[in-house]
Amino acid sequence: MTRTSIITDLIRKNGYTTYLEIGVATGENIRGVATVPGLHIVGVDPAPLCEFVTDPVDSDTFFASNTETFDLVFIDGCHLEAQVDKDIAHALSVLNDGGTIVMHDCNPAIYEHATEDWLLAEWNGTVWKSATKLRCTDASVTLRVVDTDYGCGILTRGRSRLYTGADVDTCLTWDYFDAHRRDILDLIAPEEFTRLYL
Ligand SMILES: C[S@@+](CC[C@H](N)C(=O)[O-])C[C@H]1O[C@@H](n2cnc3c(N)ncnc32)[C@H](O)[C@@H]1O
Repeated sequence: MTRTSIITDLIRKNGYTTYLEIGVATGENIRGVATVPGLHIVGVDPAPLCEFVTDPVDSDTFFASNTETFDLVFIDGCHLEAQVDKDIAHALSVLNDGGTIVMHDCNPAIYEHATEDWLLAEWNGTVWKSATKLRCTDASVTLRVVDTDYGCGILTRGRSRLYTGADVDTCLTWDYFDAHRRDILDLIAPEEFTRLYL
């Protein structure tokens, strides 16, 4: 199971017709999503590298003038907590009823993948901090993270049971997060994703 199969399966299962990808890069993911017939696709990236980028700007600039709403938003742009927080808030504001937000890079394997600075070839940034804050503080949404492809967060509107094992500041420390990630992120196996969402 990959981010692309998760996204395309959600689109097919729910009959989604509109898709927004924040952070397109070379189009590895969006090219696969575009195989779904009849899908309206918007791709946002300030450094366009492929034909799937319809809006060659950063996500803040895009959302400042965007008037469309979407069934599925994939957040995979700037991987820094402050920007991911903004992308999540913006994505929720343009999400159609019954829509889904997918967030890449929620479950970094090791500390060196989980920092603000890009240290190694593999890097997930601090998306995990944005995901952790949602799970600790926002009961108006449900977030589960599929344990595949660096952690694919599945974010939907609707009440959830928050993580209450420690205060949010403690959860945002690497050692605590690392030891409790299964519960903090509500990590689910790919088979569980299939059972719950497809
Ligand atoms: C990890 S890559 C995206 C990979 C792609 N989603 C995929 O799965 O194949 C991250 C991309 O985000 C873009 N990016 C960086 N900051 C951004 C921002 N503020 N808004 C939108 N995209 C951004 C970068 O230019 C880069 O191409």
